[in-house]
Amino acid sequence: MEKNIAVIRGDCSSPEIVTQALRVLDKIAQKHGHTFTYTEVDMGGAAIDKYGDPLPQSELDKCLASDSVLLGAIGGPKWEGMPGDKRPEKGLLRLRSGMGLYANNRPAKIWPQLADASPLKPEIVAKGIDFIVVRELIGGVYFGEHRTDTVNGEQVATDTMPYSEHEIERIGRIGFETAMKRRKKLCCVDKANVLDTSRLWRAVMHRLQKEYPEVEYSEMFVDNCAMQICKNPSQFDVIVTENMFGDILSDEASEITGSIGMVPSSSLGATTCGLYEPIHGSAPDIMGQNKINPIACILSAAMMLRYSFDMGAEADEIEAAVNAVLDDGIRTADMMSEGCTLVGTREMGDAILAKL
Ligand code: IPM
Ligand code: MG
Repeated sequence: MEKNIAVIRGDCSSPEIVTQALRVLDKIAQKHGHTFTYTEVDMGGAAIDKYGDPLPQSELDKCLASDSVLLGAIGGPKWEGMPGDKRPEKGLLRLRSGMGLYANNRPAKIWPQLADASPLKPEIVAKGIDFIVVRELIGGVYFGEHRTDTVNGEQVATDTMPYSEHEIERIGRIGFETAMKRRKKLCCVDKANVLDTSRLWRAVMHRLQKEYPEVEYSEMFVDNCAMQICKNPSQFDVIVTENMFGDILSDEASEITGSIGMVPSSSLGATTCGLYEPIHGSAPDIMGQNKINPIACILSAAMMLRYSFDMGAEADEIEAAVNAVLDDGIRTADMMSEGCTLVGTREMGDAILAKL
């Protein structure tokens, strides 16, 4: 198969992981007779430096014309002082929304080899951690109105959090469909004791629930959920939630699995053209040091093969290679534990390639 992949190398440490993911994709292409061509796209800090804009239309157009987008991570201290609409993050938000990617899928699964690296007690980890956060990605407070006014001589900032029924319904449906393919348990996470948006979410979810009688459906307030994720994570199968709650809970969920450096994500909308990115940031503190863990980015590439290109066998091979490398005790610094071999970003890439 021929596929055109838009590649956003990202900021700070990010280009180091994208390089490794592309090596893995090239190896897979060679083994299976595929042709992957890469279109370089600037977004985030790199685009601000080049164009004064975190995502110019020309760059978004390249993504829209691609078969899917592979991204590392964007942002860093260099751009921190910029106004809200000129920050690297704004480019990412525009990309997600410009591509209509409303469904963000963030798996939290313990790798048995990394159980030691989980900050949770062994008896909690032993019960198993294997759930998915289905995060609404192009609505809510991220995309509501943002303003700062002067009222009575002081500044007042306002961020609004709108959700319409159709936005809730399409992501709610993804939640139910995802649960149907797994252990058939769905938990809607919200703040319905305080927010109107959450109460609307519940009303829409109750309507959908009738179409999925096999799914064991439940609801939980987000504060309680944050607690339950560290107290009893084995209770969760699929969590569906709004944009900002999903952002927060998915960081927590990833960390209990051993390292945030291991967690990939997919973002999809109405077509198979998706965005694949690690859920971690651009790690400015270790930039240029060959230290960042490339696995989340490599697994994101695997997710792209599986969900956008229908290359399930190829994705399985990448995941098996990662698994084998972990079995060998090879670790980057973020997930290092006693008795293992510490390697850098490039060497982790080498080790995974060697298993392919
Ligand atoms: C994420 C990130 C982004 C988000 C930032 C960089 C805007 O934290 O993908 O989780 O909040 O969505
Ligand atoms: Mg986040």
